[in-house]
Amino acid sequence: MTVDAQILTAMRRAGAGSVSGADLAQQLGMSRAAVWARIEELRKLGYEITANPHQGYRLLSTPDALHADDLLARLPDNQIVGRDIRVFEETNSTNDVAEKLARDGVKEGVVVFAEAQKKGRGRLGRQWLSPARKGLWFSVLLRPDLRPQAATQLTVVAATALARAIRRQTNLTPEIKWPNDILLRGKKVAGILTELSAELDHVKYLIIGIGVDVNLTSADLPAELRKTATSLRIESGQPVSRPELAAAVLRELDADYARIRNGQFEALADEWEEQCTTIGRTVTIRIGDRAQTGVAESLDSEGALLLRTQHGRLERIIGGDVTVEK
Ligand code: BTN
Repeated sequence: MTVDAQILTAMRRAGAGSVSGADLAQQLGMSRAAVWARIEELRKLGYEITANPHQGYRLLSTPDALHADDLLARLPDNQIVGRDIRVFEETNSTNDVAEKLARDGVKEGVVVFAEAQKKGRGRLGRQWLSPARKGLWFSVLLRPDLRPQAATQLTVVAATALARAIRRQTNLTPEIKWPNDILLRGKKVAGILTELSAELDHVKYLIIGIGVDVNLTSADLPAELRKTATSLRIESGQPVSRPELAAAVLRELDADYARIRNGQFEALADEWEEQCTTIGRTVTIRIGDRAQTGVAESLDSEGALLLRTQHGRLERIIGGDVTVEK
């Protein structure tokens, strides 16, 4: 952890109390003047910190911007996801940055955030609108010990963790639309783009790209999206803290990644199914120019959707575009 992350962690642990400059200096092996200089830098970034000569430093408020040190300080217990965090002011796509890190051999768990993306992409070659400081646009690099066929498990993990974090942070009730859309009152608020590099029998690495429309107003949404897309701010009627939500999602993702590593995919799939509005419905799934209609029954052990077709056959579907018919 960097010095700033340690200072923020210490102040967070102190809660409504303070942490003394002398204690910080001792813990960090630096002078009190050097600690003071770091506090000044944090203040410049928008952290409101009071300094009391007798009690020490106290963190009063944090800015809505994403800072790697701040995010790290919020995740002291994460094992894998979020143990390394990189924040960019602007990128083309965070999935591309994560992919480069993967090829460079960076360890799994690194998370790449961008305040804005110039070429954010969605599934099926669509664009993903990523305006500066309005949402969470980030990618997580994982190296799971899985066969490529089971990689859908990770999309299920991501959707479940994301829906849970949104519910806990906002009290809203997200629904999951297979395979990986998060909806609020039927409108899309977040999406997941999983990209993988695999050999025949194993996944080399996998990148989970997550986009959450956090504080967009309806004016930020192009007219053609207003009917189908929304944001947490629009739905809850108030701004939502992006760093708090980012940390909550990474905490849930880390916990759920541990669960599937321990062979507990079934429990997660059950939670996913409970929130999934696609299960039990008659749906049409389009893959390229092929369309398949049937009843979405459940997920199989690898995370694929089991669709009971009109002819009574059970089809295993791993991707596509879903329209709910009834
Ligand atoms: C979808 O619902 O179509 C998936 C949207 C995924 C968007 C995220 S934003 C961060 C990451 N970088 C990208 O270019 N896309 C994903």
